[in-house]
Amino acid sequence: METTPALLPLLLLFLSLCVSGCHGNLRLTPRVYLSYKELLETRTIRPFSFSFNTSDYRILHMDQDQGRLYLGSREYLVSLDMQNINKEPLIIHWPATSQRKGECRMTGKGGQGECANFVRLIEPWNRTHLYTCGTGAYKPVCTFINRGWKAEEYLFRLVPGYVDSGKGKCPYDPRQENAAVLINGNLYAGVHVDFMGTDPAIFRTLGDRPAVRTEQYDSRWLNEPVFVKIQKIPDSAEKNDDKLYFFFREKSLDAAGGSTPSVLARVGRVCLNDDGGQRSLVNKWTTFLKARLVCSVIGAEGVETYFDELRDVFIQRTHDERNPTVYAVFSTAGSVFKGSAVCVYSMADIRNVFNGPFSHKHGHNYQWTPYTGKIPYPRPGTCPGGTFTPGLHTTKAFSDEAINFVRAHPLMYHPIYPTHKRPLVVRTGVDYRFTTIAVDMVDAVDGRYEVLFLGTDRGTVQKVIVLPKDTSTTEELILEEVEVFRTPAPVKTLKISTKRQQLYVSSQRGLTQVSLHRCAVYGKACSDCCLARDPYCAWDGETCSAFTPATKRRSRRQDIKHGDPLRQCRGFNSKEKRLRETVQFGVEGSSTFLECQPRSPQATVKWLYQKDSKRKALSRDKEVLKTGHGILLKSLTQADSGLYHCLATENNFKHTVARVSLRILDREIVEALTAPDSPAEPERHHQHHHHHPPPPPPPPQTPPPPLQQLPPQPEVRLINQYCQTYWQQQSPSPPHKPKRTNRRHTEQKESEEPHELQAQ
Ligand SMILES: *[C@@H]1O[C@H](CO)[C@@H](O)[C@H](O)[C@H]1NC(C)=O
Ligand SMILES: *[C@@H]1O[C@H](CO)[C@@H](O)[C@H](O)[C@H]1NC(C)=O
Repeated sequence: METTPALLPLLLLFLSLCVSGCHGNLRLTPRVYLSYKELLETRTIRPFSFSFNTSDYRILHMDQDQGRLYLGSREYLVSLDMQNINKEPLIIHWPATSQRKGECRMTGKGGQGECANFVRLIEPWNRTHLYTCGTGAYKPVCTFINRGWKAEEYLFRLVPGYVDSGKGKCPYDPRQENAAVLINGNLYAGVHVDFMGTDPAIFRTLGDRPAVRTEQYDSRWLNEPVFVKIQKIPDSAEKNDDKLYFFFREKSLDAAGGSTPSVLARVGRVCLNDDGGQRSLVNKWTTFLKARLVCSVIGAEGVETYFDELRDVFIQRTHDERNPTVYAVFSTAGSVFKGSAVCVYSMADIRNVFNGPFSHKHGHNYQWTPYTGKIPYPRPGTCPGGTFTPGLHTTKAFSDEAINFVRAHPLMYHPIYPTHKRPLVVRTGVDYRFTTIAVDMVDAVDGRYEVLFLGTDRGTVQKVIVLPKDTSTTEELILEEVEVFRTPAPVKTLKISTKRQQLYVSSQRGLTQVSLHRCAVYGKACSDCCLARDPYCAWDGETCSAFTPATKRRSRRQDIKHGDPLRQCRGFNSKEKRLRETVQFGVEGSSTFLECQPRSPQATVKWLYQKDSKRKALSRDKEVLKTGHGILLKSLTQADSGLYHCLATENNFKHTVARVSLRILDREIVEALTAPDSPAEPERHHQHHHHHPPPPPPPPQTPPPPLQQLPPQPEVRLINQYCQTYWQQQSPSPPHKPKRTNRRHTEQKESEEPHELQAQ
């Protein structure tokens, strides 16, 4: 039997935790929340621990073949082992020259230390070299890095003497976002092109094709954009149809009107083989089009809430190269109301909008209307030499009419709605926002699941799955939320390696490698593992461990869809019978706290009181105070002694979490027993038993300083003293230390071996 002394002094602490954590929508509470320290203890995380004078760990590029992760930060380039980012990193110091830094400061730009070289781009160039660019203290520069043929060469160095201009590839101002991709030796970048940072463009440089950009200072094309992501997505089997899609947000042209939001999310595209116009739009895109991305929810009174601030985009490949799934993270614009959402778009819907009507300003009040006039040939946005224009081999052969039309009508009339016309995930009324996203498709026993990893502005990563509930609604489950940085900071970049089962998460201050799963945290029992509903984990007959469909062991139990332990764990649910009863002492007339913390915050708790083998619901509402961590019984009487069962119900599965046998001590006896001249006082007691030396028990842990609201509680000392005495009389071994869990939402048994960081 374990003895748990009353935990009364912790009560107010519990209550105060509860005030910040117990209200709100239960479904939006992560089932497991791990602090940074708790996450470290699971050994499924590795913070990058090399310290050199750097910051802004923004650029992460994964090289799956060589197994390297390239990191670009302030004045440093680092090549890391994807398996273990702390294993012999190769580091390049790439500062701006001190002369350049001096010049930068002369211009008055040095304010917050921006006169340094912030790396903003690392892209593979060929089998042996990378191309990289940095802000170069407000004079962007690019160069090659030789990283060798194989990781085993441990090669990572700048090509000596080679420096390229970074104009049109990398911003001047490190505070400006950019996006870039190298395709066939051409660099496509969404970037601010000038020193003042007022000339944004989609720019093509390098390579054999002519340099091409978006029309300069034309707010119809780009209006103070923030670039988020650029990616090539083929449109058909015909290479000439290949297009570049770019995701960004920009200021609305009609913001002054009032009804339209000030910021809009956009997807734009150009043809990769666009070489600009012949007479007009020379060295400008002639195939540039853009459309609005909508992500919104209809609220209770039919009011639509829009999430317009596009933050991040993750493009999930499918078996069909032309039809990846586009996941986008948005937040609400403005600061009044914090909300974020994830919306999913299909390429079919995106293409439909680009094939639909063009937007046109029309009429006396200058409203946007669909353009209904004649559309020139080739239809604006069509690539030369492609499926629809086999006779036209270059955009320079496009008619003036077509060129002029595209210049004036870059915007599509219809917006692009997400799949099912609603977000996949919505967060409102929470004190954080999503900043980044990565998605993994996971094969579980009962099907394939999309697992979302969402970085937040409070330095955590949430792992979320969305399950169909019935034909029209879905159910969102936050499997876990983990703090990934020692110093909390918004997640800046999130990369996923399915092959290595790792996430790489970076912020202004650091970089951390996190395993996609830590199944042991859910608990050892089959029901714990089943209720966790984590597609990465299954119960293997002994513990909850990582599930790989390849190892087809018949005993593996997993039920993501229903999370029903009654079905999945039949024959293995007997664990609760073995749940040990704890004995707790209360003193007549005082109060006592019975602890019960289910693993999951999503469980509902019910207490049963049993006396003489009859169980009934505890219903003394007046004298019982329920908290998220247990119950407080006030003013005990002898009649309160008995067995208390704490029953948790989660997803219709009931199980006993705690069984406490409460014994009520007569106040007078206790007082007599613990008085200074008591015959049972520990020291004297020992003297009589030298032949049988029970080691003195460790002193009870000092209770935390009582909080001000707490009434004086002499009983606690009293009970501790009593228990000590009791144990010395009863037991040759010291009593178990009271187990205190200060974990917020989960506990891990001491006996559970933490999983090693997943090695492949
Ligand atoms: C670290 O780098 C910053 C910016 O380059 C510089 O201002 C600072 O002096 C450096 N600190 C140390 C300790 O070298
Ligand atoms: C890769 O590109 C670099 C820089 O242009 C060049 O020096 C190197 O020879 C190239 N390597 C291969 C294998 O083509």
